Amino acid sequence: MSAARIVVVGTGYVGLTTGACLASLGHRVTCADVDESKVARLAAGRVDIMEPGLAELVARGLTSGNLSFVVGAREAVRDADGVFLCVPTPMGAGGAADLRAVEQVVAEIADVLPSGCALITKSTVPVGTARRIQELTGRPDLPVVSNPEFLREGTAVSDFLGPDRIVVGSDTPGAADWVANLYADLGAPAVVTDAASAELVKYAANCFLAMKLSYVNAIAELCERLGADIEPVTLGMGYDRRIGRSFLRPGPGWGGSCLPKDTSALLRIAESVRFDFELLDAAVEENIAQRDRVIAKIAGAVGGRLAAARIGLLGLAFKAGTNDLRDSPALSIASVLCAHGAEVTAYDPAVQGELPGMLVVDNAYQVAKGADVVVVLTEWSDFTRLDWAYMAELMHGDAVVDTRNLLEPRVVLDAGLSWQGIGRPRAG
Ligand code: UGA
Repeated sequence: MSAARIVVVGTGYVGLTTGACLASLGHRVTCADVDESKVARLAAGRVDIMEPGLAELVARGLTSGNLSFVVGAREAVRDADGVFLCVPTPMGAGGAADLRAVEQVVAEIADVLPSGCALITKSTVPVGTARRIQELTGRPDLPVVSNPEFLREGTAVSDFLGPDRIVVGSDTPGAADWVANLYADLGAPAVVTDAASAELVKYAANCFLAMKLSYVNAIAELCERLGADIEPVTLGMGYDRRIGRSFLRPGPGWGGSCLPKDTSALLRIAESVRFDFELLDAAVEENIAQRDRVIAKIAGAVGGRLAAARIGLLGLAFKAGTNDLRDSPALSIASVLCAHGAEVTAYDPAVQGELPGMLVVDNAYQVAKGADVVVVLTEWSDFTRLDWAYMAELMHGDAVVDTRNLLEPRVVLDAGLSWQGIGRPRAG
């Protein structure tokens, strides 16, 4: 398709990735944000988000002239063909998505948008939001389109440029096809549908992933109780193409800025139409239970008493490859340990600064110093390259709890330590 004039409102990891990637596809993109200093940094090519490939794409867009950054959206949208709304939709009161940021942007720009300009939601928004936005604008000449993103933090650029699918929905004839065409060069299958269905795809997909993980964590618990090993169990499951191999790693519970908020929001959406979504509710409960089981395992490793136990944590981010701490299970586990009076020291290769209740150090060996137990909470590959014999020398106790099944048990054992994973036989 020919280049479109696009405005992206919001320069978080979704907005900035969307803007930089659309610019790389040849569209003329203006990214708008209310944060003046952020806009100034971005306009100078400085990207604060840890997202591989993003800084390079931003630099390329700035050099080619296809990408620019402005404060406030109102002026930028006056000659736009399409406006992507990429502002936060956090968990609000009662667990439902808080749409205030979306509504604010719509109120700011509705009267200056040129006729026919598409208003496109990228942020995850409750089913019915497209209709609500249409009403808010009071302008039937502005098509509203839902185009949910499926970007994972840490791989957002490659997910955007090599998507499994594009999903676009609108109730205005032709509008969804126009948006789908913006991505034509990517060659991905496009699901073009009505607005409500597109909005629901995003929740349905994220909640399915959350349920899959809760299921795997529950099977891992069964493995421990039955003397089986989750590794061959998930391997055997994953070869079945109907199940698939990904998203089968057990862990300390799923977290991050999306799955917890989206499961909670879909439960509220279901409630609003008087559907008791017990299956999803159980997945959320299972996630809490998983965290509690990990805490019990850590307590067991220090003889049952967390008070005054010295606990070293490896990893704080909700997954490897990101410095995002939002809804991180690692952080939640750390705060429970602190609340029980444990002395917690933590290291994460991507996290610096202070965190309440614990000491954040800047290398993994400091975590081991005097520790009764070392706990792996994030699957950073750096931890597999540690000198475990040296770790053992520094530690006071000899227990390693590996909630990501990341380490080679033999290596830990050879260092004179014991190893416990999730759903796997204990070693030592
Ligand atoms: C998730 C979805 O995967 C994306 O498709 C979606 O676009 C995004 O939310 C969003 O809604 O914006 P993300 O939150 O970046 O992406 O993280 P994931 O890679 O999905 O991981 C979520 C959680 O599951 C993490 O805590 C991770 O450690 C955990 N996980 C993942 C496991 O415990 N085991 C696995 O095998 C995979």
